[in-house]
Amino acid sequence: MPASLRRHLWQRSKAMRQVLLWCAGNPWLAAHVPRWGFVRRAVGRFMPGEDFDSALKAAVEFKSKGIGAVFTRLGENIIDLGEAAAVVEHYESVLDAAKAAGVSPEISVKPTQLGLDIDAAAALANLNRLADAASRAKGFMWIDMEGSAYTDATLDLYTKVRWKHSEVGVCLQAYLHRTAKDVGRLSQTSAAIRLVKGAYAEPADRAFTAKRDVDANYLALAVLMLTELKRGKLRLVLGTHDVKLVRWIAQFGMALGLEHEQIEVAMLYGIRTGELARLAAEGHRVVDLIAYGSAWYPWYVRRLAERPANVLFVARQMLG
Ligand code: FDA
Repeated sequence: MPASLRRHLWQRSKAMRQVLLWCAGNPWLAAHVPRWGFVRRAVGRFMPGEDFDSALKAAVEFKSKGIGAVFTRLGENIIDLGEAAAVVEHYESVLDAAKAAGVSPEISVKPTQLGLDIDAAAALANLNRLADAASRAKGFMWIDMEGSAYTDATLDLYTKVRWKHSEVGVCLQAYLHRTAKDVGRLSQTSAAIRLVKGAYAEPADRAFTAKRDVDANYLALAVLMLTELKRGKLRLVLGTHDVKLVRWIAQFGMALGLEHEQIEVAMLYGIRTGELARLAAEGHRVVDLIAYGSAWYPWYVRRLAERPANVLFVARQMLG
């Protein structure tokens, strides 16, 4: 493809990503779009159903293919601590139900779904309660990373929860300039880190905005973390569907003398599951993050922004 056409397509897709990320944060759209039937149908591509039972059923099926599951109930920026308490109770029951169904009980939670916008101390108490429940169930709790306004607070929460619990990890975003420093700090605490590229709209003074720069930083950070992993300083999970990148990182890990199972990979439900199964068959520890719940609007629009071609899929649902 000629370089000028490639540049034109890249600029259009960057503009589309920005528009979609703006839509993800727009309250009017959040209140109205979820009522549109064709959008509800399109969402089915990224979640097995709105209820937890559908997610659990999908997890049981994944288990037969050697793929683990992480459950996440969609919701963010709650404005009432009563709602956060209900989220905690829900996840406690999820950990028990997953264990009873023979699925490794793992959850992934958002700090703003547990009250961070209202009261950081309450969010910390909620996270500690869930970390207790995860360790009782012999499971694991991941803390998602939201927009950069929350990075410091989220890492602070993680460090405090990690101080008392070992079955807890945090997500870091390769698009942020600060992440190499955060890795340095977290490797002092034997952290578990899920490295992702980053899904929010961020300004250029905080984040790389060109995809190739984000990819290059992802590779550099993963290599840095593999050396820490080799020294027993941290656990790394590659949260990406970029299989080419995973393979480069895995080769580097092998060269360092790491085992396949130490190069862990996590993907999102509905995206590249065949590749995930192939990585599992090669001996990598892999998990699929299964989202469910009715508050899917902002999360779903971020999925569209990751691959603007997905918008065509939504349009097809509208036409037929
Ligand atoms: P990239 O965007 O380069 O995609 C690589 C390939 O994967 C694409 O070419 C395409 O084929 C496929 N692909 C990727 N996204 C797709 C989509 N939406 N639809 C269809 N195909 C797609 N972010 C964040 O900010 N905080 C968080 O806590 C998390 N948590 C998280 C957990 C896990 C397990 C994953 C996999 C991802 C996240 N993310 C996240 C999202 C992450 O930041 C990122 O936006 C997406 O993973 C897309 O980037 P990739 O790394 O897949 O690469």
